[in-house]
Amino acid sequence: MKASGNRLTREQARELLVKLDAELAGSSGKASREAVVKFLNSAVPTYSWVGVYLVDGKDLVLDAWSGPAATEHTRIPIGKGVCGFAAKAGRTEIVSDVSKDPRYLACFLSTKSEIVVPISNGGSVVGEIDIDGDQLDAFSSLDREFLEAVAAKASTVWS
Ligand code: SME
Repeated sequence: MKASGNRLTREQARELLVKLDAELAGSSGKASREAVVKFLNSAVPTYSWVGVYLVDGKDLVLDAWSGPAATEHTRIPIGKGVCGFAAKAGRTEIVSDVSKDPRYLACFLSTKSEIVVPISNGGSVVGEIDIDGDQLDAFSSLDREFLEAVAAKASTVWS
């Protein structure tokens, strides 16, 4: 598969994690989730739409998002879609071509790939970061590493 341009580099990832600390300083709860989605969406060109879903009973509920348009998928049953699958499995899912993944719930015509990173607290999944990319194969193992670090940092101020 063709590699996409503008993908995250290791050096950028390191710098962004430092900046994120500043973004999160002094904020908590929903304000910190709003700050994180805005930050990720504006800092990384391949992150076309960034959302945070929180677990609510048997569902994931959209709590904060940043991108060109709202999604109709504001409540997703755990187990459904790429989002629900990642929450149920408790592990990051990378879909390099959404048109080839039968689990995919379509939100935007422009989306070509997706990454979903669970947020855990005390061993259980409490939410997730969902990012859509407008390029095929927009997310690498570096994005996984970076976003898992973001999720770990954020979960400390999100509850
Ligand atoms: N594509 C997701 C649904 C959420 S939208 O991408 C914002 C899924 O398959 O679960």
